[in-house]
Amino acid sequence: MCGIVGYLGHREAYPIIIEGLKRLEYRGYDSAGIALFDGTNLNISKTKGKVADLENCVEKQISKNGNLGIGHTRWATHGVPNDVNSHPHTSNSGNLAIIHNGIIENYDSLKKELISRGYSFKSDTDTEVLINLIEDVKKKEGLKIGKAVQIALNQVVGAYAIAVVDKNSPEEIIIARLGSPLAIGIGDNEFFIASDASPFIEYTKNAIYLEDEEMAIIKKGKDIKIRKIKDDSLVDPYVQQLQINLEQIEKSGFDHFMLKEIYEQPKAINDTYRGRLLREEAIIKMAGVEDNMKKFLNANRIIIVACGTSWHAGLVAEYIFEDLARIPVEVEYASEFRYRNPVITEKDIVIAISQSGETADTLAAIKLAKSRGAFVFGVCNVVGSSIARETDAGAYTHAGPEIGVASTKAFTTQITVLTLIALRLARAKGTISSSDFRHYLLELEMIPKKVEKALQADAHIKEIADIYKNVSNFLYLGRGYNFPVALEGALKLKEISYIHAEGYPAAEMKHGPIALIDENMPIVVIATKTGHYDKVVSNIQEIKSRKGKIIGVVTEGDITVRELADHIIEVPDTLESLSPLLTTIPLQLLSYYIAVMLGKNVDQPRNLAKSVTVE
Ligand code: F6R
Repeated sequence: MCGIVGYLGHREAYPIIIEGLKRLEYRGYDSAGIALFDGTNLNISKTKGKVADLENCVEKQISKNGNLGIGHTRWATHGVPNDVNSHPHTSNSGNLAIIHNGIIENYDSLKKELISRGYSFKSDTDTEVLINLIEDVKKKEGLKIGKAVQIALNQVVGAYAIAVVDKNSPEEIIIARLGSPLAIGIGDNEFFIASDASPFIEYTKNAIYLEDEEMAIIKKGKDIKIRKIKDDSLVDPYVQQLQINLEQIEKSGFDHFMLKEIYEQPKAINDTYRGRLLREEAIIKMAGVEDNMKKFLNANRIIIVACGTSWHAGLVAEYIFEDLARIPVEVEYASEFRYRNPVITEKDIVIAISQSGETADTLAAIKLAKSRGAFVFGVCNVVGSSIARETDAGAYTHAGPEIGVASTKAFTTQITVLTLIALRLARAKGTISSSDFRHYLLELEMIPKKVEKALQADAHIKEIADIYKNVSNFLYLGRGYNFPVALEGALKLKEISYIHAEGYPAAEMKHGPIALIDENMPIVVIATKTGHYDKVVSNIQEIKSRKGKIIGVVTEGDITVRELADHIIEVPDTLESLSPLLTTIPLQLLSYYIAVMLGKNVDQPRNLAKSVTVE
């Protein structure tokens, strides 16, 4: 949560920071701010609202000049989103400014201490406490800014990615990280800093990702110095070559990132299995699994930890691992798992699923599992993310950057990776026959084309969206592999349209939710040909008798549900276990169009952020 950007070099910092903040707005967008050093003054402008609002404020308030600057887009933790609580925050002397992503947990005691020493505070934020703590250390001990930051951070409990500038050291930015991501772009005599590399990819492909508990002293015209926060020791910087390009992070003619990402799914799924699924040789090759095959084969059970949509992908994986590889699976909300006292043994494998690779609860669950001796395998989309680094081994999803806050292609590519793993293990364990295995590979290879076909229902789904856009409640039902899809469909709708929606296993409907059904209630029922079809048809009959409005997601050519439902949306036929990759598509489009018709900000829904780096 929160995006941070900085620039130090020979160009004007302002346009780089503003453009960078726009690219990071997915991380939080309730307020924004900037500090620019024009050679004499540190000019600060900040406001509640989006980066576009900040641009208007800057026009009216400050000079846009300067080759050094830092900017911030916020997702509020401490203090409501307003102008005063927006970042950057300054120290009491006005000499130091900071931007911060994270939470300082012991801010209250630090604040009291600083107040007792005469400091005063304008905002309700933990960040303003940190910058005054740095100032206090600097003044008391007569230190340079870098050293003062290092000492102050040793007094802090919490998580942070920070950038600090000092009016008296105008050619220097100090950054530090613990638990929140931070990348440094290294150009020709210029430096960029950002929460991810997207703000600087058109300027440089060379990047250093700070590790936890590291800080960097970035000075104009000098080499970067990276130090351990704990003991100030020097660390050798590791410069990586970035693989992403500008096109991947632009809308490419789509109205929203979400729609672009929905349409990218055929390619994303293909990219995810390319080089891993070798149909002609009838093998699946995944380095992370091969290298740890013994552990997988000896595992007593798999525990999947994740949050939100990634948790739904985990639920689909539970069906497929148990079904194909016959390994017992438990799927846990990372936020619950980390605070229970879970029974974990060295014979457990924990699979952590996360698009961003930065979700605080998932990261904490991984650390807990590791501390109890479990082997932890990551399924992440963002290369080099914290979770990718924290896990013992893993497999990337190769979905490409997902910018829309509502997760779409991450979900289907997570399912793709997890299916590949389940199949590989099933083959190794002998729980799948060679002919079934081959059939799976063939079917999996056809999924991208079938997703394309499912996307062709776009205009029809838009019409359905128009009919139901003004309802207050939706119900989503599915069974077996499509129960998690029902949960995911409901989550998609509520998070971007703010319409209340519930996902249920279809048969559970009669244990409560059926009471909600009347002629005003739309119910999306996933009723594909494979997987308890007759049972789901009975559930549809029960809805019909109560006059509920039925939107059936069915296999192409279905006749029975067509007769019962008010609307049907067809998806191509496939194996039951692969059907979530297809049935998800219409549900994504339905929520997308409803939200657009209601005038909601689809890519940046209220109160949400893409990367949940606070617990
Ligand atoms: C929903 C959504 C969230 C995320 C959740 C986990 O559309 O995007 O529910 O799935 O915050 O995020 P990751 O996968 O980055 O760990």
